[in-house]
Amino acid sequence: MTREHWAAVDDYIARHLIAEDDALDAALAASERAGLPAGAIPANQGKLLELLVRMQGARRVLEIGALGGYSAIWLARGLPADGRLITLEADARYAEVARASIAAAGLTRIAEVRVGAALRTLEQLFDEGAGPFDLIFIDADKQNNPGYLEWSLKLSRVGTAIVADNVVRAGAILDRTGTDPRLGEGGVQGVRRFYELLASDPRVSATVIQTVGSKGHDGFALALVTGER
Ligand code: DHB
Ligand code: MG
Repeated sequence: MTREHWAAVDDYIARHLIAEDDALDAALAASERAGLPAGAIPANQGKLLELLVRMQGARRVLEIGALGGYSAIWLARGLPADGRLITLEADARYAEVARASIAAAGLTRIAEVRVGAALRTLEQLFDEGAGPFDLIFIDADKQNNPGYLEWSLKLSRVGTAIVADNVVRAGAILDRTGTDPRLGEGGVQGVRRFYELLASDPRVSATVIQTVGSKGHDGFALALVTGER
């Protein structure tokens, strides 16, 4: 099986199950026009996020790593009209693209983009008493995944779902030396440490699902907060 084959199956899935959506198409086009790095999730994973938000009955959702706002639109779509999504983005230029796409999708009242290094903006959220969130999606620089998980737990309640993207990366996580560049600088070590934390922290129960598709071979983690701090 080749990546082309996986992409053809993704197309088949999308044709059947994912409605045509001008706002989502426009968000991807805007990211590309602005020269943002590729990295947006595929549509079927976006739909999964929307469904998870709905399954959770979520009213408050946090995203770590907005990029161009594509996944934020999916997450926000799962929320009720009075729901709230806060999405964190380190790069001010990416954040502008995300804001514009969220506005074009008519989701300004639900979704807010906060600019800054997420380890800082997470601390600010905590200090503001912004939590607990019902679902948290971690999809920023992989090097800081351990810190993002720690903050996510601080911003959670029992029952919060935590989803993390790119935790397989075509098997790059198997590189014990931690030098494989496919998860960015320090990314393999960050993701390996993230697995160790998920395994050892008594407050969460987690699994990882490997995926193939238009974006190649990767995987996402799904964790449920089961215990108080
Ligand atoms: C890439 C993909 C991602 O999902 C991400 O979070 C970061 C980078 C990539 O394809 O390079
Ligand atoms: Mg990602």
